[in-house]
Amino acid sequence: MKVVVIGGTGLIGSKVVGRLQAEGHEAVPAAPNTGVNTLTGEGLAEVLDGASVVVDVSNSPSFADDAVMEFFRTSTTNLLKAESDAGVAHHVALSVVGTDRLQESGYFRAKQVQEDLIRDSGLPYSIVHATQFFEFMKGLADLSTVDGTVRVPPAKFQPMASDDVAAAVCRAAVAQPLDGMVEVGGPEALFLAELLRTALSAAGDPREIVTDPEAGYSGAPVDESTLLPGPDAELATTRYEDWLAAQQQ
Ligand SMILES: NC(=O)c1ccc[n+]([C@@H]2O[C@H](COP(=O)([O-])OP(=O)(O)OC[C@H]3O[C@@H](n4cnc5c(N)ncnc54)[C@H](OP(=O)(O)O)[C@@H]3O)[C@@H](O)[C@H]2O)c1
Repeated sequence: MKVVVIGGTGLIGSKVVGRLQAEGHEAVPAAPNTGVNTLTGEGLAEVLDGASVVVDVSNSPSFADDAVMEFFRTSTTNLLKAESDAGVAHHVALSVVGTDRLQESGYFRAKQVQEDLIRDSGLPYSIVHATQFFEFMKGLADLSTVDGTVRVPPAKFQPMASDDVAAAVCRAAVAQPLDGMVEVGGPEALFLAELLRTALSAAGDPREIVTDPEAGYSGAPVDESTLLPGPDAELATTRYEDWLAAQQQ
């Protein structure tokens, strides 16, 4: 089966391509540096020729509110139109657990627009909602840093390894379309501050981490459970401490 992976050179995309190829599929990475640009439409018709499934794990190069909205609105619109023209039978996209509860954040407003365009497209689809990746902890700390101090809300999250995210995306890609969403998460619910302390300490990063009830997540207010997946989520088994130990070997 030919599967085109939009963003197939990125963190999740390269793992998805590798896993699908190992399963015997013709998985084709598509990104600007392979000649496919969903913002301009360059190379899209050519790469989708003969494709059964498209997996979209691309991300915006800029997280500024206007830029990220422009990215997900334009690239998703172009991609869905090209898939419809090419007769693609299944669109799979990766989004984030809690997107609908984080609409005061520009990034999550853009992810919601991406999801709404997919749902309204008439194409068979599956949306995978994943929790935060273990690899994202430094990025999360950077986004939460004010005057050198990391300020995070007293919220729990249930992060997961990018390998487990890629496995979940691949399961969706080779299954029948859900015409709906599946949630995936890690095995442990932890406070943001707790995990960031472990992550920064392991990286030798001296920043202080403060729990601040006024701090939001990506600019959106959150309570203790906003970032947590629901009771039906598929939970991966890789624990953060074990993943971290493996990285340090
Ligand atoms: N971070 C988290 O914790 C988290 C949690 C849940 C879900 N997600 C979602 O996971 C997805 C993938 O994240 P990631 O960290 O794997 O992303 P990433 O490593 O930043 O990779 C992004 C990919 O998108 C490609 N891309 C950028 N502009 C493009 C364009 N105009 N046309 C086609 N491809 C383009 C990039 O190609 P180039 O390298 O050539 O630019 C790259 O292959 C995102 O949609 C994000 O919302 C993230």
